Amino acid sequence: MRAVDLRDSFGRPLRDLRISVTDRCNFRCTYCMPKEVFGKDFPFMPKDSIMSFEEIDRLAGIFVSLGVKKIRLTGGEPLLRKNIHQLISMLSLREVELAMTTNGVLLPRYAPSLSAAGLDRITVSLDALDESTFAAITDSGHTVAAVLAGIEAAESVGLGPIKINTVIKRSTNEDEILELVERFSNREIAVRFIEFMDVGNTNGWSMDEVVSAEEIRDIIGELSIIPPNNPSDVAKKYRLPNGGEVGIISSVTEPFCNECTRARISSDGRLFTCLFSNKGLDILSLMREGKDDSEISAVIQEYWKSRDDRYSEIRSKNSKIEDRVEMSYIGG
Ligand code: GTP
Ligand code: 5AD
Ligand code: SF4
Ligand code: SF4
Repeated sequence: MRAVDLRDSFGRPLRDLRISVTDRCNFRCTYCMPKEVFGKDFPFMPKDSIMSFEEIDRLAGIFVSLGVKKIRLTGGEPLLRKNIHQLISMLSLREVELAMTTNGVLLPRYAPSLSAAGLDRITVSLDALDESTFAAITDSGHTVAAVLAGIEAAESVGLGPIKINTVIKRSTNEDEILELVERFSNREIAVRFIEFMDVGNTNGWSMDEVVSAEEIRDIIGELSIIPPNNPSDVAKKYRLPNGGEVGIISSVTEPFCNECTRARISSDGRLFTCLFSNKGLDILSLMREGKDDSEISAVIQEYWKSRDDRYSEIRSKNSKIEDRVEMSYIGG
């Protein structure tokens, strides 16, 4: 298919596609899948409403023809999806950078097959180095030691440059910031601190719990700005005095909707043009009804052309939006 110059209503192109391959996770992070809500009886998606690898790959092809340059696989926890390396083999034949965001504990088992299948790089979520703080946040019996083993496994098979995502929540883990910086900055692993966001409906978000990018910078101390490679990068990058790098993702206090080129697809094949949407476009049904690629492409193009999302920039006015999708459904 011929490449098109697709723009949304603010002139933003479509460059990044984030595909959630499962809504399940083996963690129960209190800010994402609190146990009280995502318990034994939670109605996770039934298998037949989840996209097959062939469906995902077909959609990826359509998105690449519309300008996508980077595909990130997310979850829930993407490594819970059976035979995920087979999907990676399929996607690796496409002209895109291929990345994954994972909580890391299954990497010792799967990193070699992910790398062999053609995954380019990995981002690992890790909110604390202290075991008891980590246990309180992730609420699932997994350990920091297991995540660190996952990071080692990914490094040893060349899934770098590795990035670490750390969500900072007030009175929970801001005292972990310096230790995380010290632990990773001399190993060519960039830690990115993320302001706690009001995604979904279940994490009881309040502005009081957001540790701002400015505060995070103050805690770290001496930093110099590294110019972005790409204007749509979500993390602002900084150089540390020891030569290491850290990132700060300030979607609450310094939003970056202006440059947002990201689309997300849930594992049941719905397209979301913003992390904070409360509705998605059901593309899987179009595929299963027998629409061909050009028909599906036309529908996606119309949807993107009418996109006017900039939730983080108008957050305070939007506080009443209800039924926002959960992060575990749409991916991070
Ligand atoms: P690379 O730069 O390719 O490594 O990836 P990335 O930074 O786009 O991906 P990653 O999944 O690591 O993003 C980090 C975190 O930033 C996510 O988990 C979200 O918390 C946040 N984030 C990513 N994209 C958006 C976005 O479009 N809007 C908002 N508000 N937050 C985002
Ligand atoms: N605020 C900020 N980041 C979040 N993530 C999940 N929920 C939130 C939230 N409320 C991050 C995770 C992970 C990625 C998938 O999304 O920490 O790095
Ligand atoms: Fe935690 Fe990520 Fe799982 Fe959510 S999807 S519960 S943030 S590990
Ligand atoms: Fe993009 Fe929506 Fe995030 Fe703004 S709030 S950066 S439009 S995903």
